[in-house]
Amino acid sequence: MFEYITLGTRTLPENYGPLKGANGNARILGPCGDTMEFWIQVSDSTIEKATFTSDGCRNSIKCGMTAAAMAEGAGVNVATQFTDADILAVAGDIPTEDSHCALLAANALKAAITDWKRRNHAEIRSGMKTRAAGRSIIQPRPNLLVSCRGKDGTENALVVVYAGNCSFDPEMVMVGIVPSRFSYGLIKDTGCFVVNLVSPAQKDIFDYMGSHSGRDGNKITACGVKTVNGIKVDAPIIADCPVNIECTVVNSIRAGTHELFIATVDYVHADSEIVREDGTIDWNLVQLA
Ligand SMILES: Cc1cc2nc3c(=O)[nH]c(=O)nc-3n(C[C@H](O)[C@H](O)[C@H](O)COP(=O)(O)O)c2cc1C
Repeated sequence: MFEYITLGTRTLPENYGPLKGANGNARILGPCGDTMEFWIQVSDSTIEKATFTSDGCRNSIKCGMTAAAMAEGAGVNVATQFTDADILAVAGDIPTEDSHCALLAANALKAAITDWKRRNHAEIRSGMKTRAAGRSIIQPRPNLLVSCRGKDGTENALVVVYAGNCSFDPEMVMVGIVPSRFSYGLIKDTGCFVVNLVSPAQKDIFDYMGSHSGRDGNKITACGVKTVNGIKVDAPIIADCPVNIECTVVNSIRAGTHELFIATVDYVHADSEIVREDGTIDWNLVQLA
């Protein structure tokens, strides 16, 4: 199935090396630290030629050459589904301890196909994409607990995922709240709230706050959540959340189901270990739900 050529002191497969005229290319790093690069030349959604290089071991070269040979003549939608098991089956005698080389080859080929698709906008032109539902379509959504306080001092919090940054000068954020929520009335009354970023450890509280209404009982005490007063706004901070953002409402816009409360960021509290010397948060150190 494979022809070998001699390049300098190395004997390499015929399909080794960069491909002139390739219209898809990708280099990826495998779990073992080896890299593999693939070049493909695609015409009418069929891979006419595929080549590869690898800085890995002999078996990595063998898996690369097998995947490249399998790809030739295959449609991009077929080749993108080649698995490491498919490559191992064709390659034949790859020892188990090197079977990850086949995964590296499958992934490198897949990445080159993705690159070809990106370059050619092929999915859109050939109708390969399917219309999807638009509900909550911007992802990932932030998992937030928005806490607030009624004029009678009642504290409450609800889950909000319709939210985002909306200005950095002045610093402003937006939260979307459905008018039927108990919290909506509290925020309308006081004009302020706290956005609390949630950690994975707070999953139970998050679920409770998102499925119960403060109208039916005090959720803060029911969950045993510790709160402290905001220093700028009249709303409680959920102490166990890694980041709390005190906000004052400056505007609101009704957008379909939600009212978008646009608010200034008046003060940000963050766990000390995640704040850099210049005051910015090192998000790599923050675990968010
Ligand atoms: C995952 C999830 C996301 C939610 N996102 C929002 C949201 O963005 N805006 C909103 O008004 N309600 C949202 N809710 C619903 C409220 O959190 C929920 O109705 C809550 O019980 C309202 O509490 P309240 O009546 O005490 O204000 C969400 C609920 C869940 C579970």
